[in-house]
Order: sequence, then structure tokens, then C-alpha cells
Amino acid sequence: MPSSVDMKPMSYTLGIESTAHTFSIGLCDDEGNPLPSTSAFVRPVKGGIHPREAADHHAENCQSLIEQLFAKHSLKSEDISAIAFSQGPGLGPCLRIGASVARTISTAWEVPLIGVNHCVAHIEIGRQECDCSDPVLLYVSGGNTQIIARLEGKYRVLGETLDIGIGNMLDKFAREQGIPFPGGPVIEKNALRWITANPNSSLDDFSLPYAVQGMDLAFSGVLTAALMMVAKGAPLDAVCWSLQEHVFAACVEVAERALAHTGKSELLLGGGVACNQKLRNMSSMMAEQRDGECFVPEKKYCIDNGSMIAVLGRLRLISGNEMNIEDSKINQYMRTDSAEITWS
Ligand code: ATP
Ligand code: FE2
Repeated sequence: MPSSVDMKPMSYTLGIESTAHTFSIGLCDDEGNPLPSTSAFVRPVKGGIHPREAADHHAENCQSLIEQLFAKHSLKSEDISAIAFSQGPGLGPCLRIGASVARTISTAWEVPLIGVNHCVAHIEIGRQECDCSDPVLLYVSGGNTQIIARLEGKYRVLGETLDIGIGNMLDKFAREQGIPFPGGPVIEKNALRWITANPNSSLDDFSLPYAVQGMDLAFSGVLTAALMMVAKGAPLDAVCWSLQEHVFAACVEVAERALAHTGKSELLLGGGVACNQKLRNMSSMMAEQRDGECFVPEKKYCIDNGSMIAVLGRLRLISGNEMNIEDSKINQYMRTDSAEITWS
């Protein structure tokens, strides 16, 4: 056993996530292992998320979230060796809060600063947590729907939504039915209740437009059609079931094409909608039929979380990407393929 003199004290990378309705502070240790984050969520009572109100929420919650995180893991500021933040893509006012907090911490605690791509952070924590090496990521969240794979030194978007994110579509459908945010989990329960009570249901009776557009996806048409179906008197549970079947089949189809095109065998799910058991089952079935494998991180690492930002921040730092404050401007439209992959 090493003596206390030989033992190097553990140091941690702090990660700040603030792309949209979640403000989350997380950590990873100096081997890259994530520790659970502390998070606060904006839950709009009426309508969608308002970027400025969400930014105010993040600013109000920041200090207490950091204090809670440090208390939870018995840490002091001296234990932090680097600070990472989501630089984009996301809502400008929300991103700016996270970036300002990160710059302040970097200056006050004299630790390196690193901005990271939020979408890439989902992939890296998934790869690490699920122990897969070169997956196609099906990234399905509120604001994002992308199919991503590592090709020629970058993470490339092989397909994505042309209009709204799949989670926003589910939330909008739910809101119109009086279901509060987040609507996705309630739609999942309703759908399961319908198919359990009506196991012989046919999708022909609740047909909706298909969301696949080449390698891309589009969800507004299916949303409008589902709303009209309820308005015309179809049972809400049946429409929830049909909606899930249609939009998940579309995502899985594009993911399958991405696997075929790239020759990869691992499928990784990420984003809040990846908490859905139906999507998980459909994805696993598709991967198995191709003699591949489907991986899903724990829910706390599927949803937006600060720990994934810390994990990617550490990887970028140890592969030589420390950032000057002047380069730390946020980028609302940051593309997944904007940076070279400099880590293994
Ligand atoms: P991003 O900023 O990456 O777009 P986000 O702000 O939407 O992320 P997430 O936590 O990744 O945050 O995802 C939230 C979304 O996930 C919401 O739209 C919510 O309805 C959806 N969701 C959560 N659980 C489920 C579920 N079980 N089934 C379907 N959708 C779900
Ligand atoms: Fe996300």
C-alpha cells in the first residue's frame, strides 16, 4: 500500500452546463471519472422556455448549486484544478451565465479555463460510462436531434432535425393537452397504458406522417397531425402511443442508415428523450438485428448535466486545448464538427 507521502492528492475538473433549461454543476476526478452533479431546472408553468427568464434562474441558483456540490463531495476550492463550461450550442442568455461563472472561477482560483461543445460532451460521457469505443450517437433531447459519428478526426452530424428537436415536439404536444413540462415522460406513460389495454391496436387506425427526410428528420408535420387527431376525437392515450411509434421509428431508421454507412457496430443513446424505455427497446432491437450493440448511459448522464462538461473539458485540456479568456465567447450555433478530436 502506498504511504501517505506517495499518495498524490486527487484534483477535480469542474463542469458548468447551461445551454437551456438546466443549470448544472458537475465534476470529474483526475482520471476522468464523473461524480454526480447538482442541478436546477426551469419548469415553465405556461408556454415554452423563455431564454432570459431561464438565464435569471441560472444566475440565482449558481452559488447554492456550487455550495451543495462541494458539501456533497467534501471539497474545497483548492481541490479544483480546471474549469470547463458549455460554450455552445444553446440559448445565448443561458450560455452567457455559464461562461461568466466559469471565467470568474478561472480567474479567482487561478485554474485553466476550457469551453466545450455540448453535443460532443454527451458522446464522451456516454462512451466512458458505457465502455463503448466508436459509436454512432443518437442524440435526442429537447432542443437537439442529431445522429453523430466520429469520421476523419471530427464528430460529424450524419442526420439531424430540420425543424424542432424531438423533445420540444413531445413537450409541445403535451402542453396542448394540458400536460405540464416535461411532457415526454407523461406521453410515455399514456402510450404504455394504451398498448397494455389494447394490445391488438393497429397503427393504420392512428396513422401519422413519417418524420424521415433523407438522412434528416422533421417533426412539425407529425406534431400538427397528432394535435388534429386528438381534436377530432381520437383517445389521447392512443395518439401518444402512435406518436411515439412514428417518431422513434424515424430516429431509429436514420440511426440504422448511419451505422450501415459508417460500418460501425455500436449505437449509443444520449439526451433526455433517451430516458424513454420504448426508444431504448427499439434501438436495442435494431442494433441486435445488425449484430451490433446498443448502449444507454444512466439517466443522470443522459439528461443535461455538468459532469459531462467536466469529462470533455478534462479530455480537451490534457490534449492541449487550454483557452484564453478572449477565446471564451459563447457560440449559440456551435457545430458538432467545429473542433478536431484531439483525444483518443
Ligand atoms: P438540450 O439542451 O441538449 O436540447 P434539454 O434542455 O432539452 O437538452 P434534456 O434533459 O436533455 O434537456 O432533455 C429534456 C427533454 O427530454 C424534454 O423534452 C423531455 O420531455 C424529454 N424526456 C425526458 N424523459 C423522457 C421520456 N421518458 N420520454 C420521452 N421524452 C423524455
Ligand atoms: Fe443536451
